[in-house]
Amino acid sequence: MPRGQEPLLTRRPSSHNDERATEEDALLTGQRPIRQSSTSRWARYREIALFVWGLIATAAVIILAVVYQHQSSKTTPDRHGDRPTGKRNLVFMVSDGMGPTSLALTRGFKQYVNALPWDDTLVLDKHFIGNSRTRSSSSLVTDSAAGATAFSCGHKSYNGAISVTPDHTPCGSVMEAAKRAGYTTGLVVTTRITDATPACFASHVRTRAMEDQIAEQLIGNGPLGRNVDLIFGGGRCHFLPNTTAGGCRADGRDLIANADEHDWNYISSREDFDNLGSSVELPLLGLFAPTDIPFEIDRRHVDDDYPSLEEMTKTALRALSDATKDSEQGFFIMIEGSRIDHAGHNNDPAAQVHEVLAYDRAMQAVLDFLEEDDTEGLMVATSDHETGGLATARQLNVDYPEYLWYPGVLANATHSAEHTARLYFSHLSASKPSKADLPKYLTKLINDNLGIKDVTREEIDYLIEHPVLSPWTMSQIISKRSQTGWSTHGHSAVDVNIYSSNRHASKKLHGNHENTEVGEFLRWYLNVEDEMKEVTKELKDKLEISGGESWLGAVPSQEDLAVVASHLMSPQRGFD
Ligand SMILES: *[C@@H]1O[C@H](CO)[C@@H](O)[C@H](O)[C@H]1NC(C)=O
Ligand SMILES: *[C@@H]1O[C@H](CO)[C@@H](O)[C@H](O)[C@H]1NC(C)=O
Ligand SMILES: [Zn+2]
Repeated sequence: MPRGQEPLLTRRPSSHNDERATEEDALLTGQRPIRQSSTSRWARYREIALFVWGLIATAAVIILAVVYQHQSSKTTPDRHGDRPTGKRNLVFMVSDGMGPTSLALTRGFKQYVNALPWDDTLVLDKHFIGNSRTRSSSSLVTDSAAGATAFSCGHKSYNGAISVTPDHTPCGSVMEAAKRAGYTTGLVVTTRITDATPACFASHVRTRAMEDQIAEQLIGNGPLGRNVDLIFGGGRCHFLPNTTAGGCRADGRDLIANADEHDWNYISSREDFDNLGSSVELPLLGLFAPTDIPFEIDRRHVDDDYPSLEEMTKTALRALSDATKDSEQGFFIMIEGSRIDHAGHNNDPAAQVHEVLAYDRAMQAVLDFLEEDDTEGLMVATSDHETGGLATARQLNVDYPEYLWYPGVLANATHSAEHTARLYFSHLSASKPSKADLPKYLTKLINDNLGIKDVTREEIDYLIEHPVLSPWTMSQIISKRSQTGWSTHGHSAVDVNIYSSNRHASKKLHGNHENTEVGEFLRWYLNVEDEMKEVTKELKDKLEISGGESWLGAVPSQEDLAVVASHLMSPQRGFD
């Protein structure tokens, strides 16, 4: 282990790890964990097993070495795909918080709901090319900020970093470099556009909580001016003063009223979006919700209010393609299935399968576009990390576990746990109901929204005693019955998948990679490596001129970063 890494990889002594862990297991499983004492017989079996394993492993290494030598003497493999020489478009897709298990969960759900054969797959499955290791510089478990910094800058950084390196200085992003090289650029997301993933492509701050400053930089008030030509997503909040409805800027500024300084055309509703028609004028800022766009499982009931990820994707690709029709360079766009992550944080499997299916449809739209468009183009997709420690199986009691899980339970849910809990909160604050009336109300609420008909008295009591935890409790009610397992309300360190529209063109990403290599690939494909260096230099120069802290923020303390992380993990996260 390299020096200096010990504290990162060593378990910190903390009371947190003992009592709280037991409590949390109980919260996740509804049962106290059973601890078995080890026996000497077990130790002996282990020794024998290790010895046999050692023998097999040695034999395998020898055989592999011989085979490999034989193979490599026959072929001289071309390890690098060719970079196109002419005009090109690059579509980078991010499925925030989607690990491999999300695919199995969603595939099983889709087969069940549509009565499809066992070998039916998702669009994603057909384009799998490799996987990515995700650790950050500050932890084996990354957050979205460090994850997206790996994609945008090609650097590992600390959790909470928005395109700054571990020394807290800014690193040029691939989108800023692409803009400088003449590409037209776009960002399409389903969260707030000021959230960590999109933020990393066109802003630089020392902690992801600085969403007011991120909004400023996204529209072009940052050190490099405007780097994005098209923005679709949620998040009007950080563009509007906190004195107006739906605004939360602390500095009283109205960025939308001043957006025409940077020539932005602004739209804010489904109606505006539908009226775009075939002539879209860039730059275009489309912010369709005050914060996040609702989960797909909820959005489909209010389709008149918000465009879907697929619709935003199609309109964005068309607009960027039209805008670059006569230019020398093509476009670069990042499209994110942002709220797969939020369904994971909530441990809500019903919300998650609809998020993944929405992302799958968006990917099909990208593939269709690339197929039809005349310009050479490539789609590369991956996740920043997994969220929830999802498992498509769950042991509910001490008996031998059953080998199954029940997609039918997810199919009966018509809304997310987040939406259902929000209805419960409104009911509590609006009607000040008596405790005696709540069981009847909650039983109906859960039946109507989560499709669960056999909610228990214990579950109802828990919801009444702990209303604040209800998004998690409601998710657990679904997860237990569908036998879906979760190990955390945060992220996990499992490797995530990499996908591509063209296996040959993305040869460099076959197999297992660091997330930073995905970032390196993006700038390599766009041929903007020199521009990346220029942008980084310009950012560092401007940082010196401005005295450092105006746009980048102060160097955050460990405490600052911990507060952001715990807020993101709270059951109330979806409510602000
Ligand atoms: C707006 O932000 C300022 C600065 O943080 C704060 O003092 C004020 O209370 C906020 N106003 C509202 C209405 O939240
Ligand atoms: C789903 O709902 C239907 C209709 O109410 C019911 O018959 C079925 O048992 C439910 N499925 C599951 C797995 O709960
Ligand atoms: Zn993330």
